[in-house]
Formats: sequence, C-alpha cells, structure tokens
Amino acid sequence: MRLDRLPAPDAREAHPPGSGHINLVVVGHVDHGKSTLIGRLLFDTHSVPDGKAERIEAACRAEGMEFEHAFLLDALLEEQAQNITMDTTRVPFRTERRSFTIIDAPGHKEFLKNMITGAASADAAILLVDAEAGLREQTRRHCFLLSLLGLRQIVVAVNKMDLVGYRPDCFDRIRTELGEFLGRLGVEPAHFIPISAKHGEGLIKRSDRMPWHRGPTLLDALESFRANPPASGGPLRLSVQDVYRFDSRRIIAGFVESGSISVGDPIEFLPGGKRSRVKSIETWPKQTPPMAGPVGAERAVAVTLDDELFVERGQIGAAPGDRPHEARTFTARVFWLHHEPLRSGELVPLKLGTQQAEAHVLGVQRTLDAMTLETGTGTAGEVKCHEVAEIRMRVRRPIAFDVGGRVPSLGRFVLMRGRRIGGGGVIDSVVEEPPDGEGAGLVSRSAILGHRGCIVWMTGLSGSGKSTLAQALERRLLNAGILTSILDGDALRSGLSRNLGFTPDDRNENIRRATELAIHLAKAGVVVIGALISPFRANRSMAAERAKELGIPFAEVFVNTPLEECERRDPKQLYKKARAGLIQQFTGIDSPYEAPLSPDLEIRTDREAANDSIERLTQMALALARPADQAGPGADI
Ligand code: ADX
Repeated sequence: MRLDRLPAPDAREAHPPGSGHINLVVVGHVDHGKSTLIGRLLFDTHSVPDGKAERIEAACRAEGMEFEHAFLLDALLEEQAQNITMDTTRVPFRTERRSFTIIDAPGHKEFLKNMITGAASADAAILLVDAEAGLREQTRRHCFLLSLLGLRQIVVAVNKMDLVGYRPDCFDRIRTELGEFLGRLGVEPAHFIPISAKHGEGLIKRSDRMPWHRGPTLLDALESFRANPPASGGPLRLSVQDVYRFDSRRIIAGFVESGSISVGDPIEFLPGGKRSRVKSIETWPKQTPPMAGPVGAERAVAVTLDDELFVERGQIGAAPGDRPHEARTFTARVFWLHHEPLRSGELVPLKLGTQQAEAHVLGVQRTLDAMTLETGTGTAGEVKCHEVAEIRMRVRRPIAFDVGGRVPSLGRFVLMRGRRIGGGGVIDSVVEEPPDGEGAGLVSRSAILGHRGCIVWMTGLSGSGKSTLAQALERRLLNAGILTSILDGDALRSGLSRNLGFTPDDRNENIRRATELAIHLAKAGVVVIGALISPFRANRSMAAERAKELGIPFAEVFVNTPLEECERRDPKQLYKKARAGLIQQFTGIDSPYEAPLSPDLEIRTDREAANDSIERLTQMALALARPADQAGPGADI
C-alpha cells in the first residue's frame, strides 16, 4: 500500500452527482428507418449545429434530391469522424428537460462487448419495428438481444405508419404479437408508440394522423425514463484492496465503489459478515483536525476500525442494513472473447473487483452470435468466441456481489483463460440455496438446477431407435446444464425388474415400477427420459396421470418406426428369434403394440434425418424443463 494513494485532506468528489443524463440505444434494422429516426430526433430537438440542416437541404436541392433526415445523421457522423478527439459512436441530443446520448449500434461486436462488460452502459433502448414489414426474423433477434443486454427501460417505436395509412389495426397487430414475444423473453416495454419518422409524426408532437393513439409521444416516453443514480448516492461498497499495519494500527485501504464513508459509520465485511465501526479516516499527510468524511464514490480511502477485525483483500465493506449478496450460485450474461470456447462443466478463474474465485460453468442457457445475431439454445454446451450467452455458474466459496446494475462495478466480472482475459460478464440473479442441513423442496431444487424435473416418455417397438434417441437427447440436455436420467427397458429389466417377464401382467408391473421411479427422479429435479416399449395405452396414460397429479410435466413421444424396418434392423437379433419361435410374446410379432393416438411428438426414424429428430426432441424437452425459455431462439427464430 502506498501512502500517497490515500485521499488528500482537500479531497473533493471526483464526479459530481449525475445530471439525469440518459444513454440510449436504438435497436432496429437499418431498413426500418433507424437513421431517419435519429436524424429526426436531432433535428426536431434542435440538436443539430446551426445552419447544418439548411446546408444539407441546399445541397439536396442542388442535386435534385429530396431532403432526408437520415442525411443529417450521416453528415454529423462524418464530421465527428474527422475530429479525432470525439467518439464517433456517440450522438448527443437534448431537450428542455434532459440530455441524451445515442450510443453505438447493437449487432456490432465491440458494442456488445462493451455493453456486457460495462465499458458502455445504456440506460434505455428504443426498439424500432417497421409497421409494414411486421415481426420478421431480424426483429425477433433484436428482441433477443435486448433481453440478453438486460435493459429494463424499453420503448417500442412502430415506424413507417404512413405506409400502412396510419391504421390502428396494423399497429395493434404488431403490438400484440411483439408484446407477447417480448413477454416470453422477460422483456416488458414501457410503451408501444406508432410513429412515422419520415414525416415527424408521433416523435415530438402528437400526431393528427393518429388521434387514436392515447399513449405518449416518443420523446415523452424517453423523457420519463430514469437515469442511473449517481454512485455516491448508492449503498456503501468499499472494495478492500489491502490491509497493513502502521504505528500498531491496522489500516484497511480500499476503493469506494458506491455510497460514501464517514467516521462513526457501522460497517460489515462480506463474505463473512464481521462488523465494526469506522474509527478514523487516514490521510497523508496527516491532517488536523482529522478527516471525518464523508469520502464519496470512486475514491480511494484508508480507514481504521473500532475492533481489530481480520479483514482481507477481496472483501467488501458495506452498511449492515444494505449489504451486497453473498452467494455461490448465480446466473450471468457473458461475452466470450477467447478462440477456445467456454464450455459447460468447465472450471474457470473469475475476478470480481478484488475478489478471485474458481467458477464452475453449470450450464449454458442461450447464446447469441454478436456478429450475425444468430441464436442458440445452449444445448451445444459452449459459448464460442464473440458470442453472448446466458449461463449459470457456481463458485467454490461464496463471493459478495450486487445484481441488476445496482452497483455496476460489483456486478461485473471477468473470466480468465490461462493468463489472458477469456471473457467478461454481468451477474443477473442469485440462485438461492437451502441452508445447510435442510432438504430442498421442489421450488428451490429447480431454482438451483435452473430447470424443473419432468418426464419425456418414449414409446415404440423394440429396435425403433428409442435408446439411441434417448442418449442423444441426454447429451444435449447435459450440455445445456440439465440433469437427466435415462430409464431404459433393457437396463431396468436387468435390475429392478429382473423378476419380470413379458406377459401382459408382467409388462404392467414393469411399467408401474418405471413410472414410480420416473416420478421419484423428476421430483428430485431430474429430466427423466424413458425408453420403454410400453406397448399398452392404459399403462402409458396411467404414467401420464400420475405425473399430472403431482404437477410433473409429462410428454409422450411416439418413436414410430414401422415393424418391417425394426425387423430389418434387428440390432439384438430378437425378431429373428421370435420368428423362429425361440422367444414368445414378442411385441409386434405375437404380442400387441398399441400405438399412441395423440402423442406430444411423433418421430419417424425411417423418414427423418436423425439430427432433425434429435433437434425436435431436444426443443420439446427444453420447453418442458425450462418453460421460461420457450420464446428462446431455437423454438421460434
Ligand atoms: S415393456 O413391454 O415392458 O415396456 P421393455 O421396454 O421394458 O418392455 O423391454 C423391452 C426390451 O426387452 C426389448 O428392447 C428387448 O431387448 C427385450 N425383450 C426380450 N423379450 C421381449 C419380448 N418378448 N417382447 C419385447 N421385448 C423383449
């Protein structure tokens, strides 16, 4: 610790309190009128330098071109590009009430990286949709992007209303469809606003063409958003950087990430929870009278405590009434930068502030390619270079952190790959774990695991492909961090059902046992994959009913491979033996198979490519195990 790093006696706030400024991103396709919208906002709020618009108008006239507001943005960006001291990716504008900065363009690798790692942070977003084009794949991807960025303040601008005759039904259709889609992704827009950026309708002033719209104008909506509160106004977070002895005093040196600290303040150190009070604030050179504080956010500070606590680097000092989380398991959004993918099951070093921990990647929920915005369900179990992903992690020992952007610097972390930074991320939520010694109920189990227990029951003839499909499904679910167990007929019959044969009664009993076992496992949070001939409808519906009674999701999958095909494959040579009369009561030969009447999924292994079958099966299982993700990429996009 260097004493010259301590605050000077005349230390002032490094950053004045926030001015209510809002950083804004515009998420939308270029063709949906993004430049025009931004140009319009600049022009109509008089945020364009004097004479600029007139000059462009004159230039347009000279060229015989119609003036377009998008040109304003182009001209402005071009000018900025020539001025190397300015950041070309930031466009400022202001209204009477507040100032805004439009930051960069999403869908750009650097932008996403900055957003995720916190180098840039947007407070709000405009999601731009074309009224004429409606909800296309691009827009779905943009929705997904918004949900991954974790932005909470969103306004949807339905643009080009002029092209649909300003008709309310067109607007309503998009609002319903998009609202539902965003809802499934956990994104709730503050407003849907019909606009025509080209004609300046609905942006700054209310539109005469759309009197049916009762909500705010776009600018009203933007002005109503909250700006990030200034860090000094937040809860106290002191990152401990060093503890050293000096003149027999134990001095704790750290950095005030948020809030402020004064002599006499109660303070608690996490992880651990040891408490004391601030006895003194140390300065260099020594000051008389001694400094009493407050020392505000983003300042280094050194304090002594009333009690001789053992405090160490990596701990966070906080006000006892307003502490950060102390936990081991959490969900996070990460941006991965290393050419070697981040993999499910892997152990990676994590750094959060001055804390370091070994983190275990429990599962990958969803992914998004930063360049193409291609999405994935995480079943590949990896996050590739330049992908953004939602993952679950568990650290070996508890760490202290904040979530939801409350204290941004304590919600962000980096992941190391060797000695290099492999990626960065933001913690989204804490996964609560039951206290030691207490059993976990259904709810807390699924919270810890990140999915719920359920039963995927595959039925079909011997040799239809049930076991092969079950194994492929298991592999994918495990990759996505989902706990699975296969109940396979052959395996059961060599153990639990060893005393049973193939008479109808024995089959009934076999399926009853399999059902109870499946339910037991599903209750424990496991996704059970049944691979049993289960030839009788009554048995299968009994299994479904039992599960339903207990609130366990159940799906019946019919692996519908025709008998001739199963017999042709005959992997265990059983059909041959049955035909030869060496085995009796063989399903499909001399024992019936009752095909499902309305299975939840039907797979024709003789007609469909194996990969396609597995994909459909995986999506169905994911929808059961993680219902909240259904709107996720694989299902709809
Ligand atoms: S079930 O009818 O009770 O559901 P289960 O799926 O457990 O059957 O077991 C089927 C497996 O047992 C087949 O894959 C096959 O390997 C073996 N088997 C042996 N004899 C028969 C038979 N008579 N009928 C069907 N399968 C048999």
